[in-house]
Amino acid sequence: MAHRSSPREKAPDSRILRKFDQPEFIFGPAARKLAGLYAKTFAAGRVLVVTDPGVRAAGWTEDVTKSLEKAGLSYIVYDGVSPNPRSREVMAGAAVYRGGNCDVIVAVGGGSPIDCAKGIGIVISNERHILEFEGIDRVEFPMPPLICIPTTGGTSADISRFAIIRNEKETNKIAIVSKAVIPDISLIDPVTLLSMPPYLTACTALDALTHGIEAFVSPVSSPITDLHALEAIRLIASNLIAVVENLDNLELRTKIMLGSLHAGIAFSNASLGATHAMAHSLGGLLDIHHGECNAILLDHVVEFNFQVASARYRQIGEAMGLKLGKMPLKAQRADILRRIQGLREVSRITARLHELGVSRKHIPVLARKAIKDLCMVTNPRQQFPQVV
Ligand SMILES: [Fe+2]
Repeated sequence: MAHRSSPREKAPDSRILRKFDQPEFIFGPAARKLAGLYAKTFAAGRVLVVTDPGVRAAGWTEDVTKSLEKAGLSYIVYDGVSPNPRSREVMAGAAVYRGGNCDVIVAVGGGSPIDCAKGIGIVISNERHILEFEGIDRVEFPMPPLICIPTTGGTSADISRFAIIRNEKETNKIAIVSKAVIPDISLIDPVTLLSMPPYLTACTALDALTHGIEAFVSPVSSPITDLHALEAIRLIASNLIAVVENLDNLELRTKIMLGSLHAGIAFSNASLGATHAMAHSLGGLLDIHHGECNAILLDHVVEFNFQVASARYRQIGEAMGLKLGKMPLKAQRADILRRIQGLREVSRITARLHELGVSRKHIPVLARKAIKDLCMVTNPRQQFPQVV
């Protein structure tokens, strides 16, 4: 393939300003048990604990409520959150918060409870419907204190300035991007990953890998986000297969959690790309798991983008353990695609879109929604085929 240079591949321009946000976090075993201590430092009267039935069944919610009890705090548990959290679940959670006179929120779970908790927080402080916040910097007033305990190694909702909510009426997902939805503190405890089954482990890790890759090729990346993105890619690519085969290995789980954290820091500041734009569109229409959508789409987007950011993708390939040497670009691209496809196949994510319910009639509507998604703005290649 002929190499075309692009502005993306030039050295960082010292005249360009870059902002870098990152919340406070604690990383390590038993971090989840500090929830009570931190809720107390926020002078909590009553805490709303936002979680879901699966996380409750795994026992992680109870660990958190016990720590609240130990700190002498009262709480209400709201677990009406489904995967791909709906706008009505956010509004129902806000009603529980108000009815219970809560003043601090603790979210325990994967991206769904955490995004729902962010939604509840901004609905409470701004007294508006959750769907009115779609877009960048549309949140006027900060939310009540939010403490997150993530239980999946993937979404990084616990440290990001993104909240993704499903508009069930329009069957799409809205992205709320604002500094106002960055949690106050994240208690990142790798022990919580031990309850994840192999398929969810693979889906969430491939979501995190996609965060690292899309942040690294984003036109608004910076030398700071690059450091985090490459380390995320290295940690996830080198440990994903081992962790899926050794689910009880805390050391491997810790490496994936650390990779996810690096990826989250990178994408929260450099944003994402076409894989996520299409995953949001797919997940909104057909309620497919977010990580699974990304895993299925990632290599196709890399193939599409490669010609405008080949030097960046080369660095990604090397972070994934490839020795690309002086290979021609076409061979480099083929090796990188094979590496991504290999990670997906070893993770046993084998479904094709049509097996998940996507048919030809869905393509125009999926494409239209994806093209309008905020993540598409930072995809490195902007020449898209015409949607009819
Ligand atoms: Fe994601």
